Amino acid sequence: MTEQELFDLSIKYFPRENIESTRILGNRVVVQIKNLAEDKVRAEELKSVVQKILPTHKVSVIFVTSAEVNLGVAQIEKWQINGVKKIIGVASGKGGVGKSTTAVNLALALANCGQRVALVDADIYGPSVPTMLGYEGSPLTTADGEHFNPFLEYGIQSVSIGALIDRNTPLIWRGVKACGAIEQLLTQTLWNNVDIMVLDMPPGTGDILITLSQRIDFAGIVIVSTPQDIALIDAVKGVNMFKKIGTPVLGIVENMSWFVCPHCGKRTDIFGFDGAKETAVRLGENFLGDIPLDMVIRAGADNGAPIVAASPDSPHSKAYEQIAHKILAQIGI
Ligand SMILES: Nc1ncnc2c1ncn2[C@@H]1O[C@H](COP(=O)(O)OP(=O)(O)OP(=O)(O)O)[C@@H](O)[C@H]1O
Ligand SMILES: [Mg+2]
Repeated sequence: MTEQELFDLSIKYFPRENIESTRILGNRVVVQIKNLAEDKVRAEELKSVVQKILPTHKVSVIFVTSAEVNLGVAQIEKWQINGVKKIIGVASGKGGVGKSTTAVNLALALANCGQRVALVDADIYGPSVPTMLGYEGSPLTTADGEHFNPFLEYGIQSVSIGALIDRNTPLIWRGVKACGAIEQLLTQTLWNNVDIMVLDMPPGTGDILITLSQRIDFAGIVIVSTPQDIALIDAVKGVNMFKKIGTPVLGIVENMSWFVCPHCGKRTDIFGFDGAKETAVRLGENFLGDIPLDMVIRAGADNGAPIVAASPDSPHSKAYEQIAHKILAQIGI
């Protein structure tokens, strides 16, 4: 089956103008439908027809929203963030894929590349940067009460939205308050000559993320995904959303790529193999690198001693450093 034949088949199930793309890559078939309410029944029908023609392929029908409508960036004023040269966001379509772990280790790796780095925890749903870097509480305010002084850990300037949101505020209200709080955190912290700021963004593709993308002058976004299909579908949605808004996507990092047994040293591809790499190629995006699932990475992150800080010469730390180098090259530092 060719991609054209896949398209011809798809228009029997969905209006032609709603078909964003029909791709066949290796053993994956992906049909992207845009601007339509998710119609699981139609999607299943199309999937089963394609599956009959290509029985050994993995077939996905993905619904994406084209956010072009009202998302023009030109007319929206950006937040003034003083003392910071470049900002990159770390995002993921879904939660729990290791976005914060990646953001923290990447920030440390960027610092190891000689950059002055800041790390901002803007994930209102699960702020975890303080735990990972090992600090607690609210940032100190300056004598005039107008500004925050960032924490300084492992040479990295850092603040977390966790200090500004009340843990008891219901999630639904957090969104409303969140953007104001994130703006405050970014614009009222006294950043000391930062070359590159890494922002741990909330997961998903929701309103907060759209607002952040419109208000922050991002040099680019790093998308973190695990190689399993379900995370990748969300990663695709994430990439598409940023593209539609006009925020550059720097590439995809595959986290928890494989597992190395601490006893026998055997490698196991628990979530499949090279999923994020294939997705990156399919989307025409860069593949920035892969990080294995390793207890050392988890233990370091959960205990305030991230692997890049604790064992900078380990292979995993080098892998984060390679990603850091690719990012620096892309954003022109
Ligand atoms: N490569 C890895 N190897 C081992 N453990 C990992 C790895 N990456 C992340 N983890 C662990 O997985 C858990 C989830 O990671 P993390 O908190 O970074 O994800 P997240 O995407 O930020 O999640 P959330 O959506 O909750 O913010 C953590 O306990 C972390 O230590
Ligand atoms: Mg997180």
